[in-house]
Amino acid sequence: ENLTALIQAIPKAELHLHIEGTFEPELIFALAERNNIPLKYAGVEALRKAYEFKNLQEFLDIYYQGADVLLHEQDFYDLTMAYLNRCRQENIVHTELFFDPQTHTHRGVALKTVVSGIQKALDDAREQWGITSFLIPNFLRHLSEEDAISTFKECLPFRDYFAGFGLDSSELGHPPTKFERVFRMVREEGFRVVVHAGEEGPAQNIWDSLNLLHAERIDHGVRSIDDPELLKELAKRQTPLTVCPLSNLKLKVVDDLKDHPLKKLLNAGIMATVNSDDPAYFGGYLNQNFRETAEALKLSKEEILKLAKNSFKASFLSEHEKERWI
Ligand code: ADE
Ligand code: ZN
Repeated sequence: ENLTALIQAIPKAELHLHIEGTFEPELIFALAERNNIPLKYAGVEALRKAYEFKNLQEFLDIYYQGADVLLHEQDFYDLTMAYLNRCRQENIVHTELFFDPQTHTHRGVALKTVVSGIQKALDDAREQWGITSFLIPNFLRHLSEEDAISTFKECLPFRDYFAGFGLDSSELGHPPTKFERVFRMVREEGFRVVVHAGEEGPAQNIWDSLNLLHAERIDHGVRSIDDPELLKELAKRQTPLTVCPLSNLKLKVVDDLKDHPLKKLLNAGIMATVNSDDPAYFGGYLNQNFRETAEALKLSKEEILKLAKNSFKASFLSEHEKERWI
């Protein structure tokens, strides 16, 4: 109970959060009704029951379906505002949100609709509650690099809204080497680079994300635990890993939270952070990720404070802005 109060009370940043992954079944049904879109589930309970995943792909299939009911700017606003309310409740004072442009543009929803809706909510949360934020579009790695390149070009008119670009979706069969050219373009335009790697895929994907894509942060990165040389390199460079314990449990990256490598990563001197990934699907927002992980791994108060501190150090806030929280 002591740690629960501590976790709630400390200011935190969240660095690995897909806004489409915060879409709660209640809101999915409400927006489906508002937009006259039929759903293949009988109701909220039936949908929630479908959230049993054997692996990443089973999750992605259902997560892309959920996103199908998002059509209008107001839908993206409502989705984002629901998450920001959560941030306020959980004392998340800074958040760096991912969204998947291709999930929406490929259904005929204009990028401007998506970005405006999300951005208005971020502006309102900043004004009302002082929550700061960055928005980071992610390319879907199961699609071609050509598609990522045309998506990147579509994003350029909105460039002031974006801090960087990322890479997500199915890791197996779609290694970082497939996206070297688009991330060179991303860097040449002055954006930050983050990459999902070493979630289901091997440690080599983390090496390639660092050396070929020049990733500044690795999303997940837990498979680094298999490669002592890589652990040394990550510790030396202080490359942040945005770790998502409850996601790893739900997607069977680990069989039990007690087997989660987070504590070992910290002990190896790595800049690890805790994040919720897709909390509506994985059964817990940020503080629950902290609580369950702290309990399963017997994290000390010092380790919890360190993880919260790391969330700011690893963020894309300026050094000056970080000082406010560290
Ligand atoms: N998209 C949303 N969540 C993801 C995850 N955990 N891994 C890869 N792609 C994702
Ligand atoms: Zn993710």
